[in-house]
Amino acid sequence: MSIPTTDLGNGLSIPNVGFGLWKNKDEAECIASVEMALKAGYTHFDTAQAYDNEQFLAAGLKKAGVDRKDVFITTKIKVENFLRVEKSFAKSLENLDTDYVDLLLLHFPVTVLRHNAWKKVEAIHKAGQAKSIGVSNYMIRHLEHLLKDCEIKPAVNQVELHVFLQQPELVKYCQDNGIVVEAYSPLAHGKGLDDPVLAEIGKKHGKTSTQIMLRWCIEVGTIPLPKSTHEDRIQQNIDIFDFELDEEDMAKIKGIERNLRTCWDPTHII
Ligand code: A2P
Repeated sequence: MSIPTTDLGNGLSIPNVGFGLWKNKDEAECIASVEMALKAGYTHFDTAQAYDNEQFLAAGLKKAGVDRKDVFITTKIKVENFLRVEKSFAKSLENLDTDYVDLLLLHFPVTVLRHNAWKKVEAIHKAGQAKSIGVSNYMIRHLEHLLKDCEIKPAVNQVELHVFLQQPELVKYCQDNGIVVEAYSPLAHGKGLDDPVLAEIGKKHGKTSTQIMLRWCIEVGTIPLPKSTHEDRIQQNIDIFDFELDEEDMAKIKGIERNLRTCWDPTHII
């Protein structure tokens, strides 16, 4: 089954589910997981300088013999590299064995430094080395600052988002401003998979709790980036496009929100 895509507002599109590579650091395991993901039908891969696995992603894609143009690759500039964006990005391209990425993100809204770092990212985009550009972990006020004085609007904001951290105001703000939201840690790092509400909705649709969590991301118009190194789970996590959650399901899921943040907390960053 071909994966639906979302318009990035710049003439390009992004597949509606991505293979998340955070915490996939073991070389052999990471390469094998990329091959499994390709076999399962993923065409969208989400890595970052901070994940230390850009080169393993490249090795997995090469091993599988996939054509560069047939995959969507995202990487991110890590916080330590905000003062040397271009140099670090050149290294990322080398690691990824490519001359462009489909999406380049600033990984975190570092106060003061993020302004100039964005200018560098814009320059990379203008040079054709990043087809689309965006940010990650930006809250509304960070986006407000950026939208006020950017030359090129971010196409994407990638944030922690799942049924236990729903952030409806942030999602709405992004959507109102034409910014596509990507959901990282869409399975809340495996926390809460035993939630009875998810199990009940899963039973109704003949799906697992994880598939309900991922489908919820789709229903709210976001792009989930689930991580796994297990073949059966990798397959399960992409098998989310043959059913829909109804209003009753969505209302029940609204009730399990618990402001559960499993990763970085950007809410206090000015
Ligand atoms: P593993 O890699 O061993 O499969 P997130 O994407 O929210 O960061 O969550 C990733 C965590 O969830 C990992 O610990 C991963 O473990 C686990 N996981 C991924 N897919 C599934 C699944 N379908 N069922 C259960 N656990 C999963």
